[in-house]
Amino acid sequence: MSEQKQSDPARADHASGKVEILPVTGMPEFRPGDDLTGAVVAAAPWLRSGDVLVVTSKVVSKTEGRLVRVPSDPEARDAARRALVEQESVRVVARVARTLITENRLGIVQAASGIDASNVRGDEVALLPADPDASALALRNGLRERLGVEVAVVVTDTMGRAWRVGQTDAAIGASGLRVLHGYAGQIDAQGNELAVTEIAVADELAAAADLVKGKLGGLPMAVVRGLTLTDDGSSARDLVRPVEEDLFRLGTNESIAQGRREAVPHRRSVRQFSDEPVDAGAMRRAVASALTAPAPHHTHPVRFLWLREHGLRRKLLDAMRESWESDLTGDGFTSDQIAKRLSRGDILYRAPELVIPFLVPEGAHTYRDERRNGHEHTMFTVAAGAAVQGLLVALAAEDLGSCWIGSTIFAPGLVRSTLGLDEQWEPLGSVAIGHPAGGAPPARGPLSAGDGLVEL
Ligand SMILES: Cc1cc2nc3c(=O)[nH]c(=O)nc-3n(C[C@H](O)[C@H](O)[C@H](O)COP(=O)(O)O)c2cc1C
Repeated sequence: MSEQKQSDPARADHASGKVEILPVTGMPEFRPGDDLTGAVVAAAPWLRSGDVLVVTSKVVSKTEGRLVRVPSDPEARDAARRALVEQESVRVVARVARTLITENRLGIVQAASGIDASNVRGDEVALLPADPDASALALRNGLRERLGVEVAVVVTDTMGRAWRVGQTDAAIGASGLRVLHGYAGQIDAQGNELAVTEIAVADELAAAADLVKGKLGGLPMAVVRGLTLTDDGSSARDLVRPVEEDLFRLGTNESIAQGRREAVPHRRSVRQFSDEPVDAGAMRRAVASALTAPAPHHTHPVRFLWLREHGLRRKLLDAMRESWESDLTGDGFTSDQIAKRLSRGDILYRAPELVIPFLVPEGAHTYRDERRNGHEHTMFTVAAGAAVQGLLVALAAEDLGSCWIGSTIFAPGLVRSTLGLDEQWEPLGSVAIGHPAGGAPPARGPLSAGDGLVEL
C-alpha cells in the first residue's frame, strides 16, 4: 500500500507504514454445525492482536446452517432459488432482465438477496448469515478466548456497484473496528475542507482481502495486518444507507413505473399560490401533453387560451363578476351572501397564470335530428373535459398547482365578446395555475374505487 498516506495523522485506523494481507490456508470444507472459530485457531495460530480477520460470508452461512436444499435439476433449482430470493427480501429495488435487486431484512441492497449457488453442492444454495454482525462478534470473542488475541473481524460478500462494471467484496458483518472514517471538518494539504468524505474502511478491508482470497474456493479467509485499529462499537449495519437518505432507492424502470402510476392521483386542486413565476416552457409542455387527449372522429375539439395579458384578464373577470352579482341579486341573496359568493372568484384574479379551456367542436357531425346532435355535442364536451384533466395532471407533473374553476361556463357570451372569439368557442371553466404556496399539496391516502366502480 502507498507510503504517502502515512502522513494522515487524523486516520488512526490507517496504515502507518505498510499493510500485509495474509492468506489463511488449510481450511476444511465446512458443513452445518462445524466449529468455525476452532478451524481458524487451527489454521491461523499466528493471529496477532490488531489483525483484521476477513471471512467470506459463505463459510459463516455454511457453519451456521444457512444452506437450503434445492432440486439438482438446473431449471427446478433456478425456480427454487428465485422463490428464496423473494422470501429473503423485504423490498424489490429493481428487476433487471432475470435479476432481482432486493433489500434484505438487514437493509442490504444486493442482487438476488445475496443468495448464492457458488462454492456449495449442486443441490444446495446458501443464504446470507442471519446476523453477520453477530457472527463477526462471536468469532472475535471466540478468538480472544482461545488464542488470547484481540482481533477485528469482517464478514464479506461480493456485490456489484451502481454505475461501475464488475463486483468487489464489501463488509456485511463487522466487529472490533471503526467501519467508517469520516473526514468532515478536516483540512487537506491544500487547505480545502473535506466536507463529505467518509471512507468505508470495512468495505476497503473486505475488497483488499479478496485480492488474496479469490473466488475459486479453498481460501475463504485472509488477515489484514499493519493497521492501527480503533473500535468505536460500530458494525456493518452502520454501512447501510437508510432508505430515506437513499437518492437511488428504486431502479430506473421502477421509478418510471411509480411515476406513471401516481401521476393522476398526484394532482390536487391548489387554491393558494406563491409569487414564484411560472416557467413558460413548463406551461407549453403541459398543454402539449394535454392535447394528446382522446377525441372523436380524429378531431381536436379543445383550445387552451392562455390569458397572459393581465389587463384583459381583469376586464373579463370584472365583467363576469358584475353579471354574477346581478344573477345573485335576482335570486334574492343579501349583500353579505353575495359578497361571500363573489369572493370565491378571487382565485382567478390572484393566480399567477390563467388558462381558459374551450370546446371548439370542429369536425362534429350534423344529424337531421336534434336528439343525435345533442349526443354529438356531449361527446365533444367530454372529450374536451378529458383534455382539461390531462392539463391539470401534466401541470402537477411539472410541480405546478392548478384549480379548475367552473365560472366561465355560465358566461359564454361574455367570455367570447370580451376576448373577441368565434361563436363556436364554448368556455369550459378556467384553470388557475401557479406554484403551490407552502410546497406541494399533501399526498392522498390509499386509493380505493369504492362505489365509483361498478362491476357487473
Ligand atoms: C368543472 C369543474 C368546476 C369546478 N369549479 C370549481 C370552482 O368554481 N371553485 C373551486 O374552488 N373548485 C372548483 N372545482 C374543483 C373541485 O372543487 C375539486 O376538484 C374538488 O374539490 C376535489 O378536490 P381535488 O381536485 O383536490 O381532488 C371544479 C372542478 C371541476 C371539474
